[in-house]
Amino acid sequence: MKPYDILPSSRFKGRIILPGDKSIAHRAVIVSSISSGRTVIDNFPVNNDCKVSISAFHKLGFKIKRTKSDKIIVFGKGLNGLTRPKGCLFIEESGTTFRLLLGILAAQKFETKLTAGKVLSQRPMLRVIAPLRKMGAKITAKLSSPRNHEPANSRTRELTIEEYPPIVIKGGNLKGITYKMPVASAQVKSAILLAGLYAHGQTEIIEPVKTRDHTERMLQLFRAKIKHKGNAIVLKGRQGLVSPGVVYIPGDISSAAFFMVAAAIVPGSSILIKKVSLNPTRLGIIKVLKRMGMNIRLTNRELKVYEPRGDILVKSSSLKGVRILRREVPSLIDEVPILMVAASYAKGRTVFEGVGELRVKETDRIRSMSENLKKMGADIRVVRAGKSENIIIQGVGQLKGASLKSFGDHRTAMSAVIAGLAASGKSSIDDVSCINKSLPEFLSILKSII
Ligand code: S3P
Repeated sequence: MKPYDILPSSRFKGRIILPGDKSIAHRAVIVSSISSGRTVIDNFPVNNDCKVSISAFHKLGFKIKRTKSDKIIVFGKGLNGLTRPKGCLFIEESGTTFRLLLGILAAQKFETKLTAGKVLSQRPMLRVIAPLRKMGAKITAKLSSPRNHEPANSRTRELTIEEYPPIVIKGGNLKGITYKMPVASAQVKSAILLAGLYAHGQTEIIEPVKTRDHTERMLQLFRAKIKHKGNAIVLKGRQGLVSPGVVYIPGDISSAAFFMVAAAIVPGSSILIKKVSLNPTRLGIIKVLKRMGMNIRLTNRELKVYEPRGDILVKSSSLKGVRILRREVPSLIDEVPILMVAASYAKGRTVFEGVGELRVKETDRIRSMSENLKKMGADIRVVRAGKSENIIIQGVGQLKGASLKSFGDHRTAMSAVIAGLAASGKSSIDDVSCINKSLPEFLSILKSII
């Protein structure tokens, strides 16, 4: 692949509509497949990860049709509509598909083998396997991984036994559990909730910090009964789901974040982003950018829908450094890379508390972002903080162009593009094809507002 060159941009102006939220879209495919009735999913994002969810459900015996527009139609077959796939299920690089699917497969009487692409095969699965085993599923996985032994950050990496794809899973006859989650992870919570739908008795999950609640909202839209008690979620087992007919997926706030920061750091910019998901568990990016001094207005808010949405108007602003608290991190975990760019362009110090989970995303994002931004002149330090890590960025006001790497990670690549557009001088990125994982339209949308 040819390196992608970026020249400094003068300003961004315009109005954009983004494809649907990736997290919500995965849940829409999964939940509509195991419900009764037909579901039209509107504003479906056609990216690599969401295509993987569709193809996995095809292989599990479901009919899912793509229309010419951005809609897909899922023909639900109810909770027990899955059939044994021919051969193994290859989940490519979609971590959300992999972990959520484990929750459903944990309840099936047949055995399934799940395999993954090179990077997902090195991402930890014990966090989801452990509670599913407690519920009664039989799961075998590959033990330990080269990534655990990588010297990249051996001082901060604990050498614990982990479990990785490929995974063989066989289930049936699950029982509900009460589970106190050791890691704040929406994927793990979702897998347990999906398994809990099939279980005898009730399932109760206690989160250390509230994570994105798209699974709970999607299940409720499909008439499941779920109770919330503080940080605990309680679901009664053996509940059937009923399709509401149409599910609209609001624009992805994690994708919007790149355009928001672009508008913030390129003087003279003003961008209106239409119909974005404003789910309260995902608003960390907006709260932090506002604290940094960004000019952001939310308009046309529709709050009485299963997933709140609205328009975001962002204008360039001079940013100041802030402290991002540990308990805020789950609400902006995927936005830390682009916030690291914003922090470098800000005045003063920004501290990201307890962001160690970034080490196990599509790449080690602490490393990928630090390496790129340091090449551009940023001042970044990473320090140990209990079991996690803090990132400390002293804003330098302006970065300079450099030769950057995507590390095969979509959010590192998009952050590098935005950092490069605001920098002085030319930048280049080794490979931007990984952007297709979440937002294949990224570069064309950017061009439309330059
Ligand atoms: C996701 C949850 C988060 C997030 C990921 C998508 C989801 O991961 O980083 O991109 O859709 O549930 P964790 O559950 O590992 O925190």
